[in-house]
Amino acid sequence: MIKQIAVLPGDGIGPEVTEEAVRLLEEVGKQFGHTFQFQFADIGGCALDKTGTPLPEETLQICRESDAILLGAVGGPKWDHGPGEKRPEAGLLKLRKALQLYANLRPVIVFPALVNASTLKPEVLEGVNLMIIRELTGGLYFGQPRGRKETDEGLAVVDTLYYTEAEIERVLRKAFEIARLRKKHLVSVDKANVLDSSRLWRETADRIGKEYPDVKLEHMLVDNAAMQLIRRPGQFDTVVTENMFGDILSDEAAMLSGSLGMLPSASLSDSGPGLYEPVHGSAPDIAGQNLANPLATFLSVAMMLKYSFNLEQEAQAIEQAIHKVLEDGYRTRDLAQEGERYLTTTEMGEKVRAYLKQEVPS
Ligand code: NAD
Ligand code: IPM
Ligand code: MN
Repeated sequence: MIKQIAVLPGDGIGPEVTEEAVRLLEEVGKQFGHTFQFQFADIGGCALDKTGTPLPEETLQICRESDAILLGAVGGPKWDHGPGEKRPEAGLLKLRKALQLYANLRPVIVFPALVNASTLKPEVLEGVNLMIIRELTGGLYFGQPRGRKETDEGLAVVDTLYYTEAEIERVLRKAFEIARLRKKHLVSVDKANVLDSSRLWRETADRIGKEYPDVKLEHMLVDNAAMQLIRRPGQFDTVVTENMFGDILSDEAAMLSGSLGMLPSASLSDSGPGLYEPVHGSAPDIAGQNLANPLATFLSVAMMLKYSFNLEQEAQAIEQAIHKVLEDGYRTRDLAQEGERYLTTTEMGEKVRAYLKQEVPS
């Protein structure tokens, strides 16, 4: 199989983790007889510095022409004081919107070897395996009007939470489809006791739910969901929620897996390339030090192989290699216990590739 992959390393630790992910893909290609062709492009702060815009037209074009997109992370203190459209994050949001990547899949898996890396008690984490589906192209992130203005009462500011019924419906449908392939239990998270947008969300979930009688639908208010996620995460299988709630709950859920450096994501549309990126950001505090955990990006590569290329076996080979590396006690710094030895980003990349080679039957 020959596939074109757009690689957008971005800022901070983005280039460090994507470089290792590209090496991993090359190794998968070698092992399984595929050719992955990479086209590198700028996004975020590095694009702002070079071109004055966080998503140059050329980058968008490269993405549109690719079979899938791999992204590191964007942002950093250097660009934190610019106006909204001159921020690195605006480039990522524009890319998600332009490609209509409305369904953001964020799986949270607890690798048994990592139960001690989490701040939660091991018995709370047993068997945790959940999928958060975050709406990604609507809500507070994109609603108009937004911004500041002078009023009689002084400076005022507005962000708008806007959803059309069609936007709500398509992501819910996707969530029901995914829940159907899992344990057929879908928790829809909202704030229907306060927000009109949530009330329409809940009504729509009930309506669509009638088409999926085999899937048990439950509604949960977001504040309770935040608490339940750490009280008893095992009660969740598939979770669906709007953009901002999903952003916050997925970072919270990352701690179940031991580190934000373990959480991958896939952003999918109804047609066109999917975008694969770790859930974490550019981690300015550790950037440039070869300390980042590349496993979230590796797991995002596994999602790419599965969702965009239908290469289930190859995806599993990556997951298995990671599983074994962790079982054998290898850790990056974020996963290591106090005083425990840890691997650098490049060493972890090397280790996973080595285990991948052993995995594949000759
Ligand atoms: P962050 O996710 O970058 O970092 C939070 C904490 O987790 C930091 O202590 C960091 O060192 C640690 N961490 C994150 N990823 C790690 C990894 N792979 N290995 C080891 N440790 C890791 O969040 P932040 O500090 O709030 O944001 C920093 C910048 O990143 C901001 O500019 C923000 O806008 C941006 N950001 C970008 C994305 C993205 O590109 N998708 C996502 C989140 C944040
Ligand atoms: C994420 C990030 C982004 C978001 C930012 C960088 C725009 O936090 O991918 O989770 O809020 O969606
Ligand atoms: Mn986030």
